[in-house]
Amino acid sequence: MTTLSMLLMAISVASIFAESSIYFREQFEDGDAWKSRWVESKHKSDYGKFVLTAGKFYGDVEKDKGLQTSQDARFYSASSRFESVSNKDQPLVIQFTVKHEQNIDCGGGYIKLFPADLNQEEMHGDSTYIMMFGPDICGPGTKKVHVIFNYRGKNHLINKDIRCKDDEYTHLYTLIVNPDNTYEVKLDNKKVESGSLEEDWDFLPPKKIKDPDAEKPDDWDEKENIDDPEDIKPEDWDVAENIPDPDAKKPDDWDDEMDGEWEPPMVTNPDYKGEWKPKQIDNPAYKGKWVHPEIDNPDYTADPEIYQYASIGVIGLDLWQVKSGTIFDNFLITNDPKLAEEVGNETWGATKDPEKKMKDSQEEEERKKREAEETNKKEAKEDEDEDEEDEEGEEEETDSKHKDEL
Ligand SMILES: *[C@@H]1O[C@H](CO)[C@@H](O)[C@H](O)[C@H]1NC(C)=O
Repeated sequence: MTTLSMLLMAISVASIFAESSIYFREQFEDGDAWKSRWVESKHKSDYGKFVLTAGKFYGDVEKDKGLQTSQDARFYSASSRFESVSNKDQPLVIQFTVKHEQNIDCGGGYIKLFPADLNQEEMHGDSTYIMMFGPDICGPGTKKVHVIFNYRGKNHLINKDIRCKDDEYTHLYTLIVNPDNTYEVKLDNKKVESGSLEEDWDFLPPKKIKDPDAEKPDDWDEKENIDDPEDIKPEDWDVAENIPDPDAKKPDDWDDEMDGEWEPPMVTNPDYKGEWKPKQIDNPAYKGKWVHPEIDNPDYTADPEIYQYASIGVIGLDLWQVKSGTIFDNFLITNDPKLAEEVGNETWGATKDPEKKMKDSQEEEERKKREAEETNKKEAKEDEDEDEEDEEGEEEETDSKHKDEL
């Protein structure tokens, strides 16, 4: 056996083990059938309605159909179930597209993954979830991609800032969680953030803490500079800040009895030097900043399975929107980052340019219509002005007639 064929065999064996699986996929390409796959929560009676549409502009009217939020200032809560899966020893990839075609001011654009035991009809904002991922916009201050994991019963937010897209086009959001406890966030199939789960979330207490037994010695001198002991204040330094104006003269008509004793106004002393400060020199006793020694944190225990969830079974849209119109589409949950990238290319990648083209041409038409309207308005106004001039002429005539009569 050649080295090459052995290598090829090793690769194919590896790829059998790393079998690519799609746990969930939703493209909304079969009309109303999505209603049998998505369950609207009944926890509240006034949740906003999701409708199926490709929106005002799109790349492909069928393929770009997705769930759109259709009512302003509402909570939305719908979810879809898939066969329960664990991500043990495998990557977990969550991907979907979001299009804020309404030019969103404030609202969520994220998904939540839930454990398989979620009661979908009772799903609500406080339902325990496994992770929350996707864009969240509120005013100019909040434009971020949330990546929140539930770890040992508590939700932990990522401690990095990931900016989301805030335009009106469709964007692809991807989260990859790896069994080596690393992660990657992609936006439009490009990496925007990555790192270690342990470092970028505070799931675990810190590895090291300041030694509680260590204390800065009393004689530790942290002052970098000191007053120069040889610098002495000059004797002529202390003069008053303000002095009586030497040029002022008592007015001739000043009456001491009536006006009181005359005093010249005060002016700034040109010799005034301000507060005296000695020159600064390097402190010969300076020891540098004292660094608190660290010790291993007795409360810290490494967890090689931070990434791991035993039973993932429901994907949900559980969010609030002020201005509705967001379209969610192209949901994919898989163990294969490469496959997700391919699917992203085939879906978002294929329709993004035609989508932009349609929007551009709509805007061009709007612009033409506005221009035509403005021209019409201007012409109408000019006609009106002419009519008015005619009327004024007639009035003058009557006036002159009247004069004639006088
Ligand atoms: C996706 O598309 C990008 C840009 O065209 C390309 O570089 C990349 O290789 C594609 N990925 C896959 C997995 O096909």
